[in-house]
Amino acid sequence: MSPVNTPTHDASDEAQKPSRRRFLQSAAAAAAVTAAPLAHAQQPVAATPANAPMPPAAVPMPVRLTINGHPYELQVEARTTLLDALREYAGLTGTKKGCDRGQCGACTVIASGRRINSCLTLAVMHDGESITTVEGLAPDGDTLSPIQRAFIEKDAFQCGYCTPGQLCSATALIAEYRAGDASAATADVRFRPAQLSDDEIRERMSGNICRCGAYPNILAAVKSVASGNA
Ligand code: FES
Ligand code: FES
Repeated sequence: MSPVNTPTHDASDEAQKPSRRRFLQSAAAAAAVTAAPLAHAQQPVAATPANAPMPPAAVPMPVRLTINGHPYELQVEARTTLLDALREYAGLTGTKKGCDRGQCGACTVIASGRRINSCLTLAVMHDGESITTVEGLAPDGDTLSPIQRAFIEKDAFQCGYCTPGQLCSATALIAEYRAGDASAATADVRFRPAQLSDDEIRERMSGNICRCGAYPNILAAVKSVASGNA
């Protein structure tokens, strides 16, 4: 007969006891698993042979534009923005690059009657179109356009960096208003407002940022031309 309170020796209990040896074995196994992908990632990249062929260079494409009434044929890469084509290929640096990502409006030009951010569009997409830049707003070399005169009279700029885009945008804005286009600020889109309100002008010019804060004077200049007082 076996004693009632004699502890029994169970091999499975022994297996479940933590032991220093068992801990070290499992830690080593975990480290090996964790290190495996890293070791793979650190494999040296095969060096490119010196005589390997170079990838083909981007092939220039012809783009025909009428810019400020003059024909141009530019050879540009397909990735060239209209802004870079105007500035770097046509040599018309009046159009400014502010953000190069469609946020400031400094690059505004008029393409086939519509104002656009020229940094957000490719030159090849405008093949055959007419583009108006700030250099083309004046009807001739000596006479300023009404909006250009109004900007001077109303002191609508300080550093002037945003001004080419503001002038192109304001020129198109007035044409849009006279053609009956509504804006997000138009109270009733079935009717063209008799006068452009300050809110209408602010909304329609909202894509053009002025870091100098010349907004009140820009508004006054646009208003004077839109109302026929300039
Ligand atoms: S440069 Fe095009 S929007 Fe700023
Ligand atoms: S006049 Fe300086 S950013 Fe507009």
